Amino acid sequence: MAFDYMTAAEAAEHFKNGDTVGLSGFTAPGTPKFIPEAIAAKAEREHAEGRPFKISLLTGASTSDHVDGALSRANALDFRAPYQNVPDLRKRINSHDCHYNDRHLSEMAQEVRYGFYGKVDWAIIEAADITPDGEVILGTGVGNIPTYAMLADKIFIELNEALPKALYGMHDIYIPADPPRRREIPIYAANDRIGSPVLKIDPRKVVGIVRTNSYDGVKAFTAPDEVSKQIGANVVEFLLREYRRGGIPKEFLPLQSGVGNVANAVLYDLGENKEIPPFMMYTEVMQDAVLSLMRKGKCTFASTCSMTFSDDTEKEFFPDMKEFAHKILMRPAELSNNPEVIRRLGIISMNTALEADIFGGINSTHVLGTKMMNGVGGSGDFTRNAYISIFSCPSVSKGGLISNIVPMVAHADHSEHSVDIVVTDRGIADLRGLDPVQRAERIIENCAHPDYKGLLRDYMKIGKGGQTPHSLTAAFAFHNAFNETGDMRNADFSKYC
Ligand code: COA
Repeated sequence: MAFDYMTAAEAAEHFKNGDTVGLSGFTAPGTPKFIPEAIAAKAEREHAEGRPFKISLLTGASTSDHVDGALSRANALDFRAPYQNVPDLRKRINSHDCHYNDRHLSEMAQEVRYGFYGKVDWAIIEAADITPDGEVILGTGVGNIPTYAMLADKIFIELNEALPKALYGMHDIYIPADPPRRREIPIYAANDRIGSPVLKIDPRKVVGIVRTNSYDGVKAFTAPDEVSKQIGANVVEFLLREYRRGGIPKEFLPLQSGVGNVANAVLYDLGENKEIPPFMMYTEVMQDAVLSLMRKGKCTFASTCSMTFSDDTEKEFFPDMKEFAHKILMRPAELSNNPEVIRRLGIISMNTALEADIFGGINSTHVLGTKMMNGVGGSGDFTRNAYISIFSCPSVSKGGLISNIVPMVAHADHSEHSVDIVVTDRGIADLRGLDPVQRAERIIENCAHPDYKGLLRDYMKIGKGGQTPHSLTAAFAFHNAFNETGDMRNADFSKYC
């Protein structure tokens, strides 16, 4: 079938107020950039004419400033799911200009198929290539596009000429059957391929193709600061200890690693460690550090949802891609984050928290309990099902005004029933097999900042008994002290005695 080629601005004219749009990609990679920006420009024109114009946007995870940034600045988002990390969108979410539904990433596609999000009008797909009969080579991220493309009435393609055709073979596209007919996901090792190397779409749905030529705009990581380095060293120390005592099998286990500087510091230290054998990754995001581990032979395979490489790494990697074709598979989020597979493979998960409480509860999403930061992302998919789940964070934030170890988390994303290990720059708390009071003692001793240890011990003294001895009147004394005085160290438990 012959396709129509057009500009992003021409494509944007097809979108109407109230449309639901699903995008390919996961983080900036694989995410279309030009049509969403042109839709934002159309929204601004419509608003200037006094007409309402907002869309609902479904993605794989975070996108980029071209998408969430531009659409938020134009106030063109009525609804957004499932994960975001752009400051302009965060503001719209926290001021209720945009309805935001924060879901576990593994669940998003199936819930769209179940009809929980209504009808999908459009899919926009970033592609490296498309054949006339609708076989698409996706870009450097997959996300939920197999489902969005299957359900959408109409499709636009952004054909990104910067993407090498050698991407062919690096995707594993598969949609599980829906209940009650779902079978097991037949991934028995991180490197098992179960699906198609191409996304098959109905070519009759394609309204047009927009030619683009662009890298993903991911910034290179800055060198980790001292605190991140210390957290990274503590995580590696824990893994090594566990490996030496036989808690991790001899051939090691596949790793999942979140995004950010701590994740990069951990991977760097693992790469340098001679005792830890070469390992595989089963993760949702593969950052620059994993590629250098592959080059060193330390990481032998990565199953991921996207290759979130900085532009410099993409430029160096794209010509070499063939060399990595058998070492990387990009899969839809419902496979990369699949609870069944995570449990089966025995993944070690490593994620970052905003705050942890002394009993092992984790807040990953809400600053001081109310303001949305980014979303839960894949942290729940991995944590709940991991062989060992690790959370790390600095012991304090904002120069010590905030303790990231608190009496009770002000928002609960992961409960103590799922969290095995808490790590800060101060040390490691292994919570496995402990009761709540033992966990609290270990977290306070090993992970809290010295400025806050005394206060946390005071809190333990005023607890009102029971298996988990909280004081419901004082549980948020740290947060209240920060809101009232700007410093959690002003929490005073004497008034609750
Ligand atoms: N209370 C208030 N503010 C806090 C805080 C707390 N307990 N902890 C951190 N902050 C602030 C920091 O001071 C910083 O503020 P700034 O931007 O003004 O400097 C900001 O929050 C980010 O903190 P930082 O330590 O740099 O966080 P990060 O980049 O390591 O990200 C999460 C931490 C939790 C936001 C991030 O990991 C996330 O979104 N997680 C959920 C999704 C996830 O885990 N996905 C898993 C796989 S990708």
